[in-house]
Amino acid sequence: MAERLDKILASQGVATRSEAQRLIRSGRVTVNGTVCRDPAFKWEPADCEIAVSGRPLRYRRHLYVMMNKPAGLLCVSRDPKAKTVIDLLPPDLRRQGLFPAGRLDKDTVGLVIITDDGDFAHRMLAPKKAIVKRYQAVISSPVGEEEIRAFAAGTSLEDGTRCRPAVLRVLEEKENPLVEVEITEGRYHQVKRMFLSVGRRVLRLKRVSVGKLVLDPDLKEGECREMGPGERSAVFE
Ligand code: URA
Repeated sequence: MAERLDKILASQGVATRSEAQRLIRSGRVTVNGTVCRDPAFKWEPADCEIAVSGRPLRYRRHLYVMMNKPAGLLCVSRDPKAKTVIDLLPPDLRRQGLFPAGRLDKDTVGLVIITDDGDFAHRMLAPKKAIVKRYQAVISSPVGEEEIRAFAAGTSLEDGTRCRPAVLRVLEEKENPLVEVEITEGRYHQVKRMFLSVGRRVLRLKRVSVGKLVLDPDLKEGECREMGPGERSAVFE
């Protein structure tokens, strides 16, 4: 769909709308090699080559970012007082309308997808889709067959909420075992509350995958990168 040139630049995070208008009027923006000084001129962004100060603009209708969330940040778009995952984005991955698709607790680390594609987030979070989210947790004491069976049957939370069946696996047996959990819903503090229902506390929680999308092991906590199209569809596999 054809859009105003100033709107295209603003949508790509190049500048605010008024800055984009100034840039365009100053003659620093070319379209298909020719200077365009009219911010209101409409172009089909996917079909033309736009450059700002000689640098080609890579147009992306939506942005999808994989982040390895560190502890201590809120998983929301903005907060008047606290730092959020959006504050961690580098300048080249910033644009208006970005939000985290789904929430992790402040102290949870691991895979977060940040996007400006509402449909994508809606599909990813829809309970009907039952997308598998995999977590690794360090818990307060060992678990065995009894807890594995309780998770498989669907635990009951403290408020009576019945959870869907979940997979519990022990990865490292020790005083504070490392376990893996797979759930297909996303209730508030769900994994922590599921463990509380079997008398364990979660000491550390990390999300490692959503659908078939696995957190890139090269991303350190606090790092992020743009996702490719294959990674986007992996969420729904
Ligand atoms: N379950 C939790 O308890 N916390 C999270 O952050 C995610 C899932």
